[in-house]
Amino acid sequence: MRLKTIFFALALATATMAQGGPVFDAVMAGDTAELKRLIDDGADVNEPNIIPPLQIAAFNGHTEAVELLVAQGADLEATSTMLGTALHAAAQKGYAEAIEIMIKAGADPNARNNDQFTPLMTASANGHARAARALIEADADVDAIGRARSTSKGGYGNVNALHLARANDYENVIELLEAAGAKPKPPLKVSELIAAADPELGRDLANQRCDQCHKIESEDEVVINPKQGLSLVGIFGRPIASRDDFEYSIALRQMDGVWTEELLYSFAVDAMLTVPGTLMRWHDGWTDDEVAHIVAYFKSVAE
Ligand code: HEC
Repeated sequence: MRLKTIFFALALATATMAQGGPVFDAVMAGDTAELKRLIDDGADVNEPNIIPPLQIAAFNGHTEAVELLVAQGADLEATSTMLGTALHAAAQKGYAEAIEIMIKAGADPNARNNDQFTPLMTASANGHARAARALIEADADVDAIGRARSTSKGGYGNVNALHLARANDYENVIELLEAAGAKPKPPLKVSELIAAADPELGRDLANQRCDQCHKIESEDEVVINPKQGLSLVGIFGRPIASRDDFEYSIALRQMDGVWTEELLYSFAVDAMLTVPGTLMRWHDGWTDDEVAHIVAYFKSVAE
């Protein structure tokens, strides 16, 4: 059993002990006959619980239970901290059939979980192509933006489905998303912002904000960690991913062109949306204004 699964089982067990109702218990045990009996007796399929029974059925891929609960008016949009909506629960484990049943019954394909992830983002982060396809066919927004809070999901900050799939090398999902039109967020128009910014302040800020992972003013420091120490000296106007002392992501290597102010600004503000699949997966809380000063600094030393 993977560690995540063990944690989940433990959390579920705790939830069950705290709040298990008869419907929850039957669904948890995968006992469809008992579920039917309870429903015939007029049990409440939306009985209060930390995790609604429909989410448990969806998470475990118990299609028949999902069907029964949905037919009985189980709340399709109820969310739990742990799983999000029932669609997220099915998307996390890749149960496309359960997704189709709930979509047909009117579940919102763009519902959000605690990380502002849509079910399509959850399916993409977990590599489930069939589930992703079912959601795309239901017109899920392929460019929706969520806020990842764990590096295990591919980053820490704003992300989209394409980034999550690329970050985890889920080829089938990447193909599906690209075919459905998923694309990077276009660079922002920022020339006025940069012109008004302060390069000197930007130099200090770059040394504070970017130097955990980059060399700002020195080219020749030893790169100890291959993921760190990438020099940004001369970055303005430099071809993208062009240093030969660093192993860039495929996503960055596939990009053409040079670092313009638009691209530099957009990438620093929202790396994973501007270049889905990038290895720069951490936004350390710098503000858009600070980024403008930083870009103004890199521009000033290039001129
Ligand atoms: C937590 C580590 C981290 C921090 C902090 C960080 N970066 Fe990065 N950065 C990376 C990594 C990793 C890459 C390589 C990305 C790839 O290969 O997809 C990168 C790549 C880049 C590149 C592309 C360089 C090239 O040669 O094409 C630019 C530009 C960049 N970062 C700018 C910034 C700026 C500006 C800041 C500060 C506001 C910053 N980064 C802060 C980790 C970081």
